[in-house]
Amino acid sequence: MDDQRRVIVDTDTAGDDTQALLMALLSERLTVEAVTVVAGNVPFEYEVENAKYTLDLAGRTDVPVHEGARSPLLKEWEHAEQVHGEGGLGGDLFPDTGITSDEQHAVDAIVDHAHDAPGEVSLLCIGPLTNVALAVARDPALPDLLDEVVVMGGAVGCLGNDTPAAEYNFWVDPDAAKRVLGEFDVTLVDWGLTLRDGSFDADDFARLDGIDTPYADFFETITEHHREFSRDRDGTDGVTLPDSLAAACLLAPEIVDSQGRYHVDVDEREGLTRGYSLVDKHAVLDEPANATVVESVDADLFTEMTLAMLAGDPPETSL
Ligand code: RIB
Ligand code: CA
Repeated sequence: MDDQRRVIVDTDTAGDDTQALLMALLSERLTVEAVTVVAGNVPFEYEVENAKYTLDLAGRTDVPVHEGARSPLLKEWEHAEQVHGEGGLGGDLFPDTGITSDEQHAVDAIVDHAHDAPGEVSLLCIGPLTNVALAVARDPALPDLLDEVVVMGGAVGCLGNDTPAAEYNFWVDPDAAKRVLGEFDVTLVDWGLTLRDGSFDADDFARLDGIDTPYADFFETITEHHREFSRDRDGTDGVTLPDSLAAACLLAPEIVDSQGRYHVDVDEREGLTRGYSLVDKHAVLDEPANATVVESVDADLFTEMTLAMLAGDPPETSL
């Protein structure tokens, strides 16, 4: 369908990333043109295989997987296997699909797709922003060649999930996050929004009992370890779905209840505030607004979109 929005998913494929990718793949409003992989959640080879496994689950091995940056621009980082389980899919699933990656590097793929269809391709960025930063370094015209750039990252006015100051994606590669926010006008879906409107709780899990699909089975597999982590760390029974929330805001902006235009910057320095996302809500810095920060989403609609996708339907069916 030619009214579909064309999107590249840039991902550090672990549990929640796979759900965002499936949401994008099952939506009839989007066409996923490529998946680009970036260093983040788990060792890179696992991320690549997890992306291929997810595409195969959706019957979409036609979508090319491009391997990208295997480390942040400058910083050392740790994986997040404590959240996602070893390998990133709950700790007991280690795909070996045999699917070959596309020969083209992720950064070149992002640039070439943008040039091939100026203004037509959007980026759904659900991992550290290393690939996107390298792409704009390679081609400074990239911001003018892309449609929308949706970024899952940052912790706006709240404690981070990786350090008290920073959300994981921005902490892993703060230099890339700073560069991307400096060059692009992004739509930002942050950790605070995820905590408010992007979780999937025990009542939601109970509704899975009535859904018998490979997607629901996969969801239960990849979230089991995450639920245990949430119980142990926060005393809550449920999971957060930040990447799916970003995908939902891209494909269904009608679920966004409020958003604001603000100047956003990132602390790239090593130390206590590495990866801190500054959002100048009161415009005290006299800097131009460079991002649309999503501040609230209809959480019930997001849950229905997730359940629709797990049932194998387009997520927008529930709207
Ligand atoms: O902080 C949450 C983000 O970091 C998500 O994208 C998750 O997959 C990890 O990459
Ligand atoms: Ca991610």
